[in-house]
Amino acid sequence: VHFTTEEKAAVASLWAKVNVEAVGSESLARLLIVYPWTQRFFDSFGNLHSESAIMGNPKVKAHGRKVLNSFGNAIKHMDDLKGTFADLSELHCDKLHVDPENFRLLGNIILIVLATHFSKKFTPQMQAAWQKLTNAVANALAHKYR
Ligand code: HEM
Repeated sequence: VHFTTEEKAAVASLWAKVNVEAVGSESLARLLIVYPWTQRFFDSFGNLHSESAIMGNPKVKAHGRKVLNSFGNAIKHMDDLKGTFADLSELHCDKLHVDPENFRLLGNIILIVLATHFSKKFTPQMQAAWQKLTNAVANALAHKYR
């Protein structure tokens, strides 16, 4: 994938305003609530038995932040996402056996959380640039499956 200068600028301008803690933890929590089968990967995270347990779970918060910071790293390396995510692809595919479809689901959830946080500032153009990024990250993470 190739990102235009405009797309890179759009992604970076929103990223500069993102509260990584809030958006990261809410996105991972929503993944676990909306797609409950994803919970099985997070056995070690303790209580995931209800929406409020998931939303308040400190391990979900910490891991959500970690995942979103990883997106932040992607934004610094938009011309080499495959290289940037090579190790994480190996971890998720070979070791954790996460079905790559789940990368797309999480990417879409991040878009929804960004939309709720930024409201009208999350313009169609902004959405398009971020959708391209989340798709590209999902592809890069799935690379080791191919
Ligand atoms: C671990 C990123 C999606 C399951 C991690 C780590 C990162 C990361 C940075 C930490 C690796 C380390 O500690 O060395 C991402 C990104 C995703 C994504 C950028 C974007 C789409 C998913 C999805 C699942 C998943 C969809 C499962 C449904 C896990 C698990 C771990 C992990 C189980 C290990 C957690 C632990 O026990 O500490 N991921 N991840 N990831 N990821 Fe992901």
